[in-house]
Amino acid sequence: MNIRVIILLFCLIVFVGGKKVHRFRLERRSHRHHKIPHAHLHLQFRNALRRKYGFTPLRTVNAVNVTSEAGKGTVITEPLINSYDTNFFGVVSVGDQSFTMQFDTGSSDFWVPSSHCRFCIKTCGNKFFRVSNSKSFRSSGTPFSITYGSGSVKGIVASDNVGFGDLKIQNQGIGLVNISDSCSVFDGIAGFAFQQLSMTKSVPPFQQMIDQQLVEQPIFSFHLKSGSSDGGSMILGGSNSSLYYGPLTYTNVTEAKYWTFKLDFIAVHGKGSRSSHSGNKAIMDTGTSLIVGPVLEVLYINKDIGAKHNKTYNLYTVSCESIPQLPIIVFGIAGKEFFVKPHTYVIRYDNFCFSAFMDMLGLQYWILGDAFMRENYVEFDWARRRMGIAPAV
Ligand SMILES: *[C@@H]1O[C@H](CO)[C@@H](O)[C@H](O)[C@H]1NC(C)=O
Ligand SMILES: *[C@@H]1O[C@H](CO)[C@@H](O)[C@H](O)[C@H]1NC(C)=O
Ligand SMILES: *[C@@H]1O[C@H](CO)[C@@H](O)[C@H](O)[C@H]1NC(C)=O
Ligand SMILES: *[C@@H]1O[C@H](CO)[C@@H](O)[C@H](O)[C@H]1NC(C)=O
Ligand SMILES: *[C@@H]1O[C@H](CO)[C@@H](O)[C@H](O)[C@H]1NC(C)=O
Repeated sequence: MNIRVIILLFCLIVFVGGKKVHRFRLERRSHRHHKIPHAHLHLQFRNALRRKYGFTPLRTVNAVNVTSEAGKGTVITEPLINSYDTNFFGVVSVGDQSFTMQFDTGSSDFWVPSSHCRFCIKTCGNKFFRVSNSKSFRSSGTPFSITYGSGSVKGIVASDNVGFGDLKIQNQGIGLVNISDSCSVFDGIAGFAFQQLSMTKSVPPFQQMIDQQLVEQPIFSFHLKSGSSDGGSMILGGSNSSLYYGPLTYTNVTEAKYWTFKLDFIAVHGKGSRSSHSGNKAIMDTGTSLIVGPVLEVLYINKDIGAKHNKTYNLYTVSCESIPQLPIIVFGIAGKEFFVKPHTYVIRYDNFCFSAFMDMLGLQYWILGDAFMRENYVEFDWARRRMGIAPAV
């Protein structure tokens, strides 16, 4: 496989209710258009996904019952696949057809590409949903579209049964995409943010799981793993205390659209902390590879770790040899400190190494993506509108 690829960094700009919201994704493309090494890799790794941990009722963690549904339903552990430490995804069924989905806490829609898609690139190895193969499929005929910086997905809103392992949602509102102009390592996206962001105006999958009493607790958790195709897991309906150290530190969701919270500071260890210009707002986003922030703050952090701006890629590069000497970055949340080590915040492709701290002109807050969560376990508490964070095992 050709590892020497051109690295293309682009941002996804999602328009939510007419307001522009920036989201980011890291993609690597070969110079031959549409030929992404990711696609081959993830097909190869697909079998690894079949490993399932089974039912895991965890009554010891989070002993307080939040809703009347507590005690019913189950907890499932959904294995994740890691692609280059920058993309994490798992397998979901839609109308009994299986798809590789990105579980995205930064959006609220569930969409898959349609086999009727005439404007999709069909040579990337992606799967397409066949309406004729599903008895439970219902189309509403209502159009939807989500616009990204690099293009858009468009289609119609429909519904079908959606399965996360043995956890089966009846009549999940889905977007059936019939226009999509880029190849992706996953087939579709399963959004885990709140309903207010939904472009298909559907009840998000996790709210459905709660409403249909499928999950034991209204909680899901992410444990991301680095360094191999084993991407860790997403736990639906609970948490697993074997996957983190010490107690969880809780921080309230300040606005239930994204998983928004108050980030007290980001500091480079040994360099002191700087006052924040971002108004301390941050979003926890599994669908973003890196850690993205306001231009000046990102500049200061990268300066402190000795990263140099590279105009070609609009990224801060570091020498790969320097990684062991680089400082730890400290994140202050809810009165506690969380850490990200250099081998996590430096992304390495061959001999090209760059800092995960990426800026975005005009961005007024921080987006903590996979680079943060690969070292820190996060429990997303849907009903209590809070997140529990602890160093990951
Ligand atoms: C929690 O995670 C550990 C480590 O991966 C695993 O061995 C254990 O089975 C999990 N517990 C449950 C109840 O799933
Ligand atoms: C939670 O609910 C379960 C089942 O309804 C019950 O057995 C348990 O005692 C409750 N726990 C608390 C802390 O209220
Ligand atoms: C694709 O979706 C759009 C709505 O975004 C709809 O107007 C159009 O008819 C659809 N095309 C096909 C071939 O289904
Ligand atoms: C978080 O929210 C809960 C419930 O709304 C509230 O009781 C608690 O005081 C909040 N915690 C902080 C630190 O604001
Ligand atoms: C950016 O990095 C690439 C790869 O190392 C290098 O070829 C290019 O010259 C760099 N560009 C700048 C402006 O430093």
